[in-house]
Amino acid sequence: MPETLNPADPGFAHDPYPYYARLRARGPVARVALANGTHAWLVTGYDRAREVLADPRFSNVPPPRAGRPKPDSPARRAQACLARHMLNSDAPDHLRLRRLTTAAFTPRRVDALRPRIERLTDGLVAEVSSLLAREGTVDLVDAFAFPLPVLVIGEVLGVPEADRASLREWTYRVGSPTDALERGATDEAWAALHAYFTTLIAHKRRSPGDDLFSALVHDASEGGLDDGELLAMAFLLLFAGYETTMNLLASASLLLLTHPRELAAAREGGEARWAAVVEETLRHASPLEGTTWRRTTERVDLGGGAVIPAEESVLVVLAAAGRDPERFPDPDAFRPARYLAGTATGDGTATDDGARRDEGGERDAGVGRPAPHLAFGHGPHFCLGSRLARMEATIALPRLFDALPGLALATEPERLPYRPGLLVRGPRELPVTHAARH
Ligand code: HEM
Repeated sequence: MPETLNPADPGFAHDPYPYYARLRARGPVARVALANGTHAWLVTGYDRAREVLADPRFSNVPPPRAGRPKPDSPARRAQACLARHMLNSDAPDHLRLRRLTTAAFTPRRVDALRPRIERLTDGLVAEVSSLLAREGTVDLVDAFAFPLPVLVIGEVLGVPEADRASLREWTYRVGSPTDALERGATDEAWAALHAYFTTLIAHKRRSPGDDLFSALVHDASEGGLDDGELLAMAFLLLFAGYETTMNLLASASLLLLTHPRELAAAREGGEARWAAVVEETLRHASPLEGTTWRRTTERVDLGGGAVIPAEESVLVVLAAAGRDPERFPDPDAFRPARYLAGTATGDGTATDDGARRDEGGERDAGVGRPAPHLAFGHGPHFCLGSRLARMEATIALPRLFDALPGLALATEPERLPYRPGLLVRGPRELPVTHAARH
């Protein structure tokens, strides 16, 4: 049996891939001892990952926790409310919640955000540029990869521009480890977000805008969504959309800074090549290390000796599935060319059509032919924001690297800290400098 898994170990957080490779070598599904004394089943093989994510015997509803304290403060109420979202639900509730959101997230509405995302990106790139001129070194996570997704979610939710700075601050606080902030700062931010979204929903109901959230609020009454569910939806859109996209932007920047030939190829190759960089980053550095936890509702025999009893916790490790050598030759190499449109490797994955095929699982990827990555999940909970995230990254990366051609990493990649845990993965800091202008 491989060693006990400690998700808080900084070495594991920095590079979990050797551990996952060892685990996968023993079989695509394995029961693992965790450092907190519990056990969980980890799915590291690509094919089994797809199977599990499409199998209704793996539930998304968290187990009822006996004796859970009553939400007794605005901060606890906000957190409890967040737990009611669609990612924590199974059919038929999930279908009801998801149908409404899909109706609001039409490709036309998402694509209409393009000019605004371009404008927000240009504003941030200008800030990064002047910070570099003033201070010499800039943390690209803090100045670019974090604020851009939050600002874009602000567009999706139709948050007035004047309120965006507050949204950014509250999101930053609730996403930071509590010991990194002043006492009470996180609770205050939770309460502020709860109050803000409550007011926002009332406002959208009275005077809807042309944003996606207004469409959702409008459809909610016909679709039987109560205000609590709408509030949970606003929270979900914020949290599902910001840290994931932040990690995608940070990891892609890091990979390009450490693979100068790929950066040069992207600069020369234009739009298709940038789209391939985004797809390959999603495979190579999956922003969500694992999906949300699943729980078996009955005994499940996955074949090959993997029999999971009922009521067990299961984690599909997307980061490991993306490095499965059975599906991705030379899986540890960062090679955007795998996903160049028109090659046998990744045709269409950069398009919504590709995403739909991922979702439907219609495409059978043969051995030696890289499969579509699973970074956006698979099955009924397939990411609702994939089109938006892809658009954001393919707008942001070329604009950043075009405006700052001499961008260079200001530290050794091995020294970069990563967020601990099994859920999200990406560098927490990315110090860059402007080394050589040409
Ligand atoms: C690079 C960026 C992103 C990545 C890698 C990503 C990945 C994922 C994954 C893997 C899931 C499924 C989780 C599971 O099965 O447990 C998911 C679900 C979801 N994502 Fe994303 N996501 C990204 C960006 C976004 C954005 C920008 C939004 C919206 C603004 C969004 C909204 C959602 C929602 C609402 C769900 C839940 C869908 C459901 O339960 O049916 N995501 N995402």
